[in-house]
Order: sequence, then C-alpha cells, then structure tokens
Amino acid sequence: MKKIGIMTTGGDCSGLNTVIQRIMRGASLRGWQVWGILDGTDGLTVAPPAVIRLDDMLLPIENARLAGSFLHNGRVHALNFETAAESGKLKLFNKRLRESLKLLNFDALILIGGNGSLSLAWANRDIYRDLQLVCIPKTIDMDMPLTTRTIGFDTAVQQLTAYCDQLMLTARSHHRWFVVQAMGRDCGMLALYAGVAVGAAAVLIPEIKFDVDDLVKHIKNSATDYGIIIVSEGISLRGHSGKPADMIARKLTAAGIVNRTAFPEHTQRAGDTIASDRILATRFADCALNAIENGETYVMTALECDDVHTVALADFVAAGDCAYDPKVPELLTSNAYVSEQEPLLEVAYNMGIYIGMRR
Ligand code: F6P
Repeated sequence: MKKIGIMTTGGDCSGLNTVIQRIMRGASLRGWQVWGILDGTDGLTVAPPAVIRLDDMLLPIENARLAGSFLHNGRVHALNFETAAESGKLKLFNKRLRESLKLLNFDALILIGGNGSLSLAWANRDIYRDLQLVCIPKTIDMDMPLTTRTIGFDTAVQQLTAYCDQLMLTARSHHRWFVVQAMGRDCGMLALYAGVAVGAAAVLIPEIKFDVDDLVKHIKNSATDYGIIIVSEGISLRGHSGKPADMIARKLTAAGIVNRTAFPEHTQRAGDTIASDRILATRFADCALNAIENGETYVMTALECDDVHTVALADFVAAGDCAYDPKVPELLTSNAYVSEQEPLLEVAYNMGIYIGMRR
C-alpha cells in the first residue's frame, strides 16, 4: 500500500477540487492512502505538519465542481518560500519542509501548482529526493511551457466571457464602450481567448505592441457605438501609470469615445468548474497516479495534441522563458507567453478584432 500526499500551492483557480477528488478516488481504488497537506507548503512548515486524511466523506463528489481549494492555498503571513526569501529564512524553511516530509513518510507527493511553485520545487528538488514528486499544472494565466492547457484556464475564460456578455447589454443600452481588465500577469492568453469568445472590438495583450491612435480609429470606425475592449493586466503604456484599463479608458475619453471601466478581478478564479476543466483534471489525476505506479519522479503532467503524458520537470524549466521572480531574487521562474504561432491571433485579426501591430 502506498501513502501519498497532495498539496495545492500558489493562487487558486476553479478545478482544484476536481483534481483532488479524482486523485483520492483513483488512489483508493488502488488501495492507497491519501493525505491532504493544508495551505500548500505552509502546512509543512508547522510542527506537527498540518495534514488531513482524505476520503469520500471529506470531499464528496458533489463538491468536486466547486471553485477554490478544499485544502487551501496558504496564509499571507505564514512561512512560505516567498516570505522566507524576503526575511532571510530560506534555510529554516527548507529544513522544516525536509523534517515534515521525513515524518510523514509519503511514497509520493502530488504538487498541484503554477509556474512559480513548479520552478521552485525543481530548484529545491533535493527536499523531495526520498519520495516521488509528481506535479499537475494549474493556473488561469496559461503561462506554463510544455502543456497546451492548465487546470482552471477554461473556467476562467468562461467566467470572463460571461462577465463581458452581461456588460455588452448595458453597453448597448447606453451607446458606450466597456474597457474590461483581464488577469493573466504578463501573459495575454486569458484576455485573447475571452476576447474571441465575446466578440470584443479590441484585445490588448503584453506580447503585442499596440498603438492608441490606431485603437481609437478602430473603435470610431466600428459598425456599432458600443462593445467590449479587453485589456490584459500586463500591458503598459509609455509615460502612463495606474491600472491598464484606466490608462486606456482615459485615452478613449480624450478622443471622445464614451466608455466605462470594469474589473472582474478574482471572479476569474471562481465559478463552478466547467466540463472541459473537469475532464482535464480527471485526465491529469489519472496520469499522475499512473506516473506514481510507474516509479516516475520529478515530472509534470501535460496536454499536447489531445494526448496526456508526463514531461520531466527539468524540461519544463528548460523550455520556458526564464525570468527572475521580482519577489524572490534567487528564483528563476519558467514562463510561457502568447507565441506568434498562436492560432487564435490569426483568427482574431481576421475577425476584425484590434489586437495591435501584426508582425
Ligand atoms: O496567477 C494567477 C493570478 O490570478 C494572476 O492572474 C493575478 O495577477 C494574480 O494571480 C492575483 O494574485 P492575488 O490573488 O494575490 O491578488
């Protein structure tokens, strides 16, 4: 019988509970014991470690569709990698993780995390040397290399789309435009996908240069006097500061375009998990359990051309566009962005969505 641990780290997203529930189900069918670590790595820095035994009574199937993480994602003031790096307590943090894992004696640990958590796990891989480390990618930002989907992305696109759909109606009534600010950090994937789904007039993303005068012209030449402009939170405008949606809105107002701003914020991480995310969560859970059975370690589950398989964490780190985390100077994070080959870019251009300067 194997004893496995699960933890959810970084920001939450919809789909985490589905993957936890499916891991629990698949593991119990194999006769394995599953333990949930509370609050991500924080649960490993306290003594005794904060863990709970998982079974169908604790996370029943009907709750698997709910957003958030049943295991939580971490407290703000807890000792985690970021706070430890900031306060010079990295050695202590790593020591506590090591001690807790030794005490818990897991055969395997499934880490459900984003690019920060996975890059971090790889950088500190020695901590996990006595168990099998299998990672599952999740994030609404879709900024992880080597996988064409992360858990939570599709639901976030749906949430943002539904939010814009509502605004479209009031926009029409008042002959005005809404400038909606999408999450996504430095990656424009969420804004782009929702923009195409909504039929936005424009989508501004960090990866593509845009020109405000061209945007103004595009809006003024639009067939309608209302609509949605999606602005990714990662864009910048030289000589301007403040929230990106506000910067663009001010420019539109100055050009005589009537508009309002809207900030869906964390609603993009909420909402019942949609079917495609539940299916992905189930496939990733199955793949992670098979990987444990096959003796794999330091791997991540990935989707590519509708095939789910594992990739080496080393390859995940090598494949990304590595950047130093501003909050943790020691950590190189592996990032992915909207690439020039992204098929939705071409579709957006062809459908008359202003997206910036075509290369
Ligand atoms: O990485 C997920 C994400 O939702 C980003 O899109 C966003 O910039 C950030 O997290 C928000 O973080 P917080 O929950 O700390 O405000």
